[in-house]
Amino acid sequence: MNQLFAVKPLHQLTGDADPHGGPRLARTLGPVQLISLGIGAIIGAGIFSTVGSAAAGGAHHLGAGPALVISFMLTALACGFAALCYAEFASMVPIAGSAYTYSYATLGELVAWIIGWDLIIEYAIGNVAVAISWSGYFQELLRGLGITWPVWLGIDYRTAYRALAEYQAAGGAGADLAPNIIRNAEAVLTAPHLGGVPILFNLPAFLSVMGITWVLVRGVRESAGFNTAMVVLKLVIIAFFLAVGVFYVKPDNWTPFAPNGFAGISSAAAIIFFAYIGFDAVSTAAEETKDPQRNMPIGMIGSLVICTVIYMAVAIVLTGLVPWTQLGTAEPLATAFSAQGMHWASGIISLGAVFATTSVLIVFQMGQPRIFFSMARDGLLPQWAAKVHPKYQTPHITTILTGVFVGLLAGFANIDEIVELTNIGTLFAFVLVAIGILVLRRTNPEAPRPFRTPLVPAVPLLAVGSCSYLMLELPRQTWERFFIWLAIGLVVYFAYGYRHSKLRQAR
Ligand code: ALA
Repeated sequence: MNQLFAVKPLHQLTGDADPHGGPRLARTLGPVQLISLGIGAIIGAGIFSTVGSAAAGGAHHLGAGPALVISFMLTALACGFAALCYAEFASMVPIAGSAYTYSYATLGELVAWIIGWDLIIEYAIGNVAVAISWSGYFQELLRGLGITWPVWLGIDYRTAYRALAEYQAAGGAGADLAPNIIRNAEAVLTAPHLGGVPILFNLPAFLSVMGITWVLVRGVRESAGFNTAMVVLKLVIIAFFLAVGVFYVKPDNWTPFAPNGFAGISSAAAIIFFAYIGFDAVSTAAEETKDPQRNMPIGMIGSLVICTVIYMAVAIVLTGLVPWTQLGTAEPLATAFSAQGMHWASGIISLGAVFATTSVLIVFQMGQPRIFFSMARDGLLPQWAAKVHPKYQTPHITTILTGVFVGLLAGFANIDEIVELTNIGTLFAFVLVAIGILVLRRTNPEAPRPFRTPLVPAVPLLAVGSCSYLMLELPRQTWERFFIWLAIGLVVYFAYGYRHSKLRQAR
């Protein structure tokens, strides 16, 4: 039992990143690049896609209506508490691996493994959702340009079959249905068949992930520069949405303000949590950061504050443009402009969404391999995963494996289910990190803390409470999937990591 809860001493953790130690990554990132990395991870599929069903409601949850702005505020508070905890950890343990690494030093190997395994949901599964959203806006853009992309090569089975059921129920060809439902149903009807089964595959989602994997294998310096350009572009697009949209707001649309009351506000909060995921991804770059003790907290909290302000402004304008019930599309920001007959403006938004989601893809495709890298360096995953490319100095093997896994899943998965799973997994990691802060203040009070979480224990307890509350707002099916994932993780740990852990072998 003691062995399962063995903690990795802090000096040993930082020793792993020592120049004289084992494999290591190059330190190239400063504060501006980190904030940019944060915004690059945060603003994406959440504000461009998920926001629609958060406002209007969905299959398993109520919508917030115009009170969406309150949902954004509540979720930002939960993230803020968690960010203050993350920042203390990242400044104490400035090496690759994020929450996985921090928990190894505080809650022991078993919990560290659980978090590392859980972070696969946040990074890899989260990116599956982002890639699907990327593909949706990309296809929207192609349609705007008059280019026909075969529908069966840009859709998943669940979306297509749901649309087909609706289409058939409405009487088939000629039915009075929204154009996207007819198009999605036709994916099944027009797809080539293999042994009687229609072939449906989201090819743009797959290819976007493959392209980014190629960039990342070549090196973090080039990727960070590319990311900065994308971040500037998406900020310009959001500024465009706000500046143009504000002239078309009809204040009548804001009443009733909270049509589903607090139940709608809090279930929307659990959905749009997806829009905030990413400030914590900054911490995975700690080992590649200059002066991480100062720059890590700046990067995380700075990017979170900037995005919160932007999101609240978007929520106010968006719900002012059209009645909230009309926002439940996959591209609500574009829908809001189309509803005014401004198709040129919705085209610009679609282009912006493609850039926005690209920069999110980069940060998460960069973060996941670095978590695998840390786990392999500790012996919890096979050693080949810790190899660094001789020329590019990147963890190339894990980068390629992550790319193939995310790309293939994005080719087949349904975005709503993936978003809910990502949220529950990420919230769970935040809860464990906040608990970790409390434990470490007790077990390791003397360790240098270049950044200290304020008002301990209040802030970590508020993080635990608010994140658990959001988890409870998610559907039962999501909880079941989450538990299955964690169970698989435990089997992998006892079959491999438990026997190969370097910490335990050294004892
Ligand atoms: N926050 C990220 C997004 O919205 C995951 O795309």
